[in-house]
Amino acid sequence: MSSSKKIKLSVDVLKWYDGVARDLPWRNKTSNPYHTWLSEIMLQQTTVQTVIPYFQNFLTRWPTAEAMAGADLDDILHAWQGLGYYARAHNLHKCAQVITSEYGGVFPDTEEKLLTLPGVGSYTAAAIAAIAFDIPTVPVDGNIERVISRLYSIKEPVRQTKDQVRALATKILPKDRPGDFAQALMDLGATICRPKSPKCDQCPWESACTAYKSDMPEVYPVKLPKKLKPTRHGVAFWLQNADHEIWLRKRPPKGLFGGMIEVPSTEWRDKPWENEEVRELAPLSSNWSALEGMVTHTFTHFHLNITIWVGTTSANTNADGFWCAPNQFSEQALPTLMKKIVTHATSLNGARRH
Ligand code: ADE
Repeated sequence: MSSSKKIKLSVDVLKWYDGVARDLPWRNKTSNPYHTWLSEIMLQQTTVQTVIPYFQNFLTRWPTAEAMAGADLDDILHAWQGLGYYARAHNLHKCAQVITSEYGGVFPDTEEKLLTLPGVGSYTAAAIAAIAFDIPTVPVDGNIERVISRLYSIKEPVRQTKDQVRALATKILPKDRPGDFAQALMDLGATICRPKSPKCDQCPWESACTAYKSDMPEVYPVKLPKKLKPTRHGVAFWLQNADHEIWLRKRPPKGLFGGMIEVPSTEWRDKPWENEEVRELAPLSSNWSALEGMVTHTFTHFHLNITIWVGTTSANTNADGFWCAPNQFSEQALPTLMKKIVTHATSLNGARRH
């Protein structure tokens, strides 16, 4: 492609962006790397609409990296609940501490140094570099992958073409507005060059797009066949005492839902649990019985079916955990899966709650 065509591509997409850019709270005129970093971590695997209130709440509570570094991890996990992928919240805290202790509260302004920060991978380092520091680099997220693979009709499966996508996008990159270019492509991917039913007639790159010319934009990006997700099974123990409190426990600091609060459960395995096994694994002996139905939840690599068993006790359990009244659950860092368990248990087990 000639350099005048590349310049036309960048001019056209920036002109389009200047007219229709989404008004998002992390897009303020004075760039603040802390805001860019926070928004980019939240936006990994999470939609813009979901992130907005979390972003605003975090900034109100922790307006600077130093403020976040001094926060209690439990408070961060609690504020993060509902966003999922909780390792991000652990890394957020760690990263704020590194910025405070090693960089005097100021984010480093090179991609190489950004890459060394906890939770900052190649996408996020490039996004912060481009958006907060106007460094000419292209962060390749799913939106940008789709836009570029359509523009050039890239035939290879998308996982193998990240470097190619980045190289092609870098050729169009205007050196004076790298942050706007990245966000223009993100907006183009999110609003026009959508996975299904792209609005090609509104696209600033309509006349240049080879996938549009071949009338098959939706074929791109080419994907490898999806692996089927296995289903795992678990049992959650909904144990209630005479004060109508429920037995909860804190998960170990590392691993899935590290440091968050859960309704005690069996491990999650491929085979459904037999009744005898469930009684043996219960936190203490009680009048255990299974509730009707189950809670379903889908993780990146598997589906989960959770059956809930309910029991009551007047004994003080000696297992690890604590009693919590249902009206205090909002104080706890409960992941969405646990909230589903609470909803299912309280709606079906209402009679026993009172
Ligand atoms: N997704 C990830 N980063 C984004 C940003 N800065 N604007 C819009 N969507 C995004």
